[in-house]
Amino acid sequence: MERTLVLIKPDGVQRGLVGEVVGRFERRGLHLVGLRMLAVDRELAERHYAEHRERPFFEAVIEFITSSPVVAMAWEGPNAVGLVRGMMGPTNPANAAPGTIRGDFGIDIGQNIIHGSDSPARAEVEMALFFSPQELVSWERAESTWIHP
Ligand code: RTP
Ligand code: MG
Repeated sequence: MERTLVLIKPDGVQRGLVGEVVGRFERRGLHLVGLRMLAVDRELAERHYAEHRERPFFEAVIEFITSSPVVAMAWEGPNAVGLVRGMMGPTNPANAAPGTIRGDFGIDIGQNIIHGSDSPARAEVEMALFFSPQELVSWERAESTWIHP
């Protein structure tokens, strides 16, 4: 079983896509174990995007993620990291296939609606940035045996 961190970025929240994105993961059969809305400050943004510190777009992504509230979520399931990345589509929505979140709702690489961890190791690091251990909830979904064994 794997867990991944998802952020609905400021554009997704401002455009009223929270329910749409949450609904897609719920319907796919992923298991929601953490959910909170927050304004990301510069310190948290820099820690979250630390791997991109030397990239030319670093300042732009920091400014964007701190510009308006985000919704942070932790989702659990078999291969949750890969499943979520597949449902998001590639980084640039212009290259994303219809049916993916970015392919259905975006056209700009900066305003690409959603973040998902890119590996299980990064997922654990990122979940710890956005959630305290008590905020990650262990619970059983009644229909879970009808989704996977
Ligand atoms: P994310 O981290 O947000 O889930 O997106 P990702 O893995 O698909 O993309 P990543 O390479 O981690 O880049 C992080 C965010 O930086 C912005 N970006 N801009 N102008 C550019 O060339 C460029 N490249 C990346 C995107 O908003 C991307 O989500
Ligand atoms: Mg990334």
